[in-house]
Amino acid sequence: MLCNLWVASALCAVALSAPAIPYSSAAAERPTEMKVLSEYFNMLGSKVQAGKQMAEAPTNTYTAAPTALPNVSHGLELKHVAIGRGTQNYSCSTANSTAPPAVIGALATLYNASCVASTYPDLLNILPSVALQFNLTSASQASLTPSNLAISGHHLFTNTTTPFFTLNTDAMQLGVAPCAKNNSISAPAGAVKGQNDQGFGAVPWLKLTARSGATGNLEEVYRVNTVGGNPPSTCAGMPATFEVQYAAEYWFYEKA
Ligand SMILES: *[C@@H]1O[C@H](CO)[C@@H](O)[C@H](O)[C@H]1NC(C)=O
Ligand SMILES: *[C@@H]1O[C@H](CO)[C@@H](O)[C@H](O)[C@H]1NC(C)=O
Ligand SMILES: *[C@@H]1O[C@H](CO)[C@@H](O)[C@H](O)[C@H]1NC(C)=O
Ligand SMILES: *[C@@H]1O[C@H](CO)[C@@H](O)[C@H](O)[C@H]1NC(C)=O
Ligand SMILES: *[C@@H]1O[C@H](CO)[C@@H](O)[C@H](O)[C@H]1NC(C)=O
Ligand SMILES: *[C@@H]1O[C@H](CO)[C@@H](O)[C@H](O)[C@H]1NC(C)=O
Ligand SMILES: *[C@@H]1O[C@H](CO)[C@@H](O)[C@H](O)[C@H]1NC(C)=O
Repeated sequence: MLCNLWVASALCAVALSAPAIPYSSAAAERPTEMKVLSEYFNMLGSKVQAGKQMAEAPTNTYTAAPTALPNVSHGLELKHVAIGRGTQNYSCSTANSTAPPAVIGALATLYNASCVASTYPDLLNILPSVALQFNLTSASQASLTPSNLAISGHHLFTNTTTPFFTLNTDAMQLGVAPCAKNNSISAPAGAVKGQNDQGFGAVPWLKLTARSGATGNLEEVYRVNTVGGNPPSTCAGMPATFEVQYAAEYWFYEKA
């Protein structure tokens, strides 16, 4: 059903084909980067080949949505899947070096992964770890290195307890959603901790519910398959504000 709204797999394969392999000169010194990139390009190669033979899109991956978080509420349908790439922002009181950093928000660009989600769930699930290895050059960077997924929205905080998503772009208007946290679980132990697996761990998986002011019938948002984003456990040696690179999958649900 959802695949009818999206594109057939053959087109996905075209959208994913032939990226230049962006190994950096220093990549040999970064084993995690090499590992995730080679896994990604091997998987991509097999998808592109398989895609050529697919006449119809495979079934969608609704079941790939999180199981350990509360279920999606009854009557909601999957509207969009995005890879978010950006930073989690923190503040530190310079007066107290044993206090933990406080969350002050996040800033991320959302890239359209609906087609990948509906056809290549295994590829979707490694995209955050691959994307984490490359910093965005700006919040308007047109595609998600090393894929060519296009921008589908932006994520920021309007205050410290209100994560906000806009899925309105020049191309599509899917709505906006100011949200509140509904539930949180720790990322799995094996989640990539940060760039080159150096870092303080992956931010939790979340279920968010829309606050008043949401448009496009958006009701619930899940953040899953997180990589990076956690701060150090204390403020010792940290500046007053700082950012930690992260990436995640975001699943957006609307009232049918
Ligand atoms: C996402 O990409 C698919 C094609 O892969 C397209 O059909 C869909 O409209 C795009 N959605 C947004 C929000 O850009
Ligand atoms: C969540 O949904 C799954 C699949 O529909 C179902 O098997 C499971 O019992 C549900 N869990 C809860 C807590 O409702
Ligand atoms: C510093 O932070 C720690 C951990 O939050 C807290 O237990 C302690 O009371 C704080 N010290 C001062 C002086 O505020
Ligand atoms: C997070 O950091 C970015 C980059 O410095 C900044 O543009 C943004 O305003 C910060 N966001 C929050 C919520 O502090
Ligand atoms: C990404 O940017 C951060 C600064 O926010 C920097 O410390 C890090 O080295 C950069 N990583 C890459 C892979 O360029
Ligand atoms: C943040 O914004 C939400 C939604 O507007 C509001 O309900 C909440 O009280 C605000 N919280 C703070 C700490 O300002
Ligand atoms: C989470 O959502 C459920 C279902 O909408 C609701 O019953 C519950 O009160 C919410 N919990 C929190 C902490 O917001």
